[in-house]
Amino acid sequence: MEPIELPAIAPATEGRELYAVVGNPVAHSKSPFIHARFAGQTGEPVEYRHLLAPIGGFADTVRAFIAAGGRGLNVTVPFKLEAHGLADRLSARAQAAGAVNTLRVDSDGLYGDNTDGVGLVRDIESNLGVRLAGARILLLGAGGAARGVILPILARSPAELTIVNRTAAKADALVDRFRTAANDAGCALGGGGPQAAAPRAYDIVVNATAGSLDAALPECDARVFGAGTLAYDMMYGTQPTVFMRHAESLGARAADGLGMLVEQAAESFFVWRAVRPASAPVLAELRATLAAARA
Ligand code: ATR
Repeated sequence: MEPIELPAIAPATEGRELYAVVGNPVAHSKSPFIHARFAGQTGEPVEYRHLLAPIGGFADTVRAFIAAGGRGLNVTVPFKLEAHGLADRLSARAQAAGAVNTLRVDSDGLYGDNTDGVGLVRDIESNLGVRLAGARILLLGAGGAARGVILPILARSPAELTIVNRTAAKADALVDRFRTAANDAGCALGGGGPQAAAPRAYDIVVNATAGSLDAALPECDARVFGAGTLAYDMMYGTQPTVFMRHAESLGARAADGLGMLVEQAAESFFVWRAVRPASAPVLAELRATLAAARA
């Protein structure tokens, strides 16, 4: 077998500390832009790069990054599960997610966290102004993206969380896994196949199914969308997603996942630096860039 070639990692510029987003592919990631803005805003000496890890070479790439003085990583597709396995210590939310999107290099080892769910919750509550407490929420999908947001959603005490998935057994498994957390939060948790959604409008419908802008619409009763519904797609792009357009055609308010991206980055920055950056101006700037790309 050919040895896997690892990327060369230059140390940080004098006086700065090294961070990166590691993935494959990773060149498209907006995280370096976002964290450069956060560093500029807060004055934190953060130097943040893209880091392409070869498939099969994730752990070795992380070790090389640490040897080069690296202090923290965001982890993206397809390495979030491997990062979970590599961490020496895990936050409760990373344990619940079964995946890690944030690694911090501590003196006693690698700390693994997951900021995706909090990113979603902050975007919905702070940026979009919709309360999760007491809300009826429908979550579409039961893969890694869905699992990662359940505990942070439950922590806001919604009245009801229904998880539906094309493959019902995977939704059932998530309902079993989070039953105790839901009971503790006073939330009615249920789910199953697409028909498990109640045939009436939810307050919030979150699309956590995998896909791209022109991905197939997940099967879902049209009656779950109403005039008071926030239809939230974790995806984003220069154009509204198929899911967003569908929800809007049924009278719902639609939002993409760009705010979640910025909010999860802000939380990662806080995990590394113990300083909370302002997300709103960075989100506005990214939004303007996307609008310009569309024009
Ligand atoms: P991720 O980490 O992005 O969540 P994943 O773990 O592979 O990726 O999960 C993909 C999710 O998208 C699953 O819930 C999947 O449904 P199945 O479990 O039935 O495979 C869902 N999904 C993908 N394509 C879909 C489609 N065309 N319609 C409905 N659901 C889809």
